[in-house]
Amino acid sequence: MASSKTTRFSVSMPEHLVQRLDRMMRAHNYANRSQLVARLVRDALLEDLPESETTEIAGTITLVYDHHKPNLQTLLTSIQHDHHAQIISTLHVHLDHDNCLEVLVVRGPAEKVRIIADELIAAKGVKHGRLVLNVSGSPLP
Ligand code: NI
Repeated sequence: MASSKTTRFSVSMPEHLVQRLDRMMRAHNYANRSQLVARLVRDALLEDLPESETTEIAGTITLVYDHHKPNLQTLLTSIQHDHHAQIISTLHVHLDHDNCLEVLVVRGPAEKVRIIADELIAAKGVKHGRLVLNVSGSPLP
């Protein structure tokens, strides 16, 4: 944690958003709105790291794709080999007859991790892709 000092501020937003926030708070057992909002802000800040960011981060890249798509699996494998230093582990699940789910654990400078995720997620035939970032020991932004 960067700092343990807490600041109080008030936020205005449409009522329906507050209702959904409260539902989310209860569903995930948060003690109060502040705790949930702090987590959402932290997640948003991580996603918003500037491109030049050299902070060491860890995270996961999730991909869903059809393994019948010509050349797709070869392309995804070759992208991963190009970045073997940052890809720590991979998990491959054969979801059904056509679809594969792949989860990659990645670690490295934020900029590099983002490039890897962009290359994989943008590969033609990838149906779903998402990068989830976590800090790696360094203070939260
Ligand atoms: Ni598969």
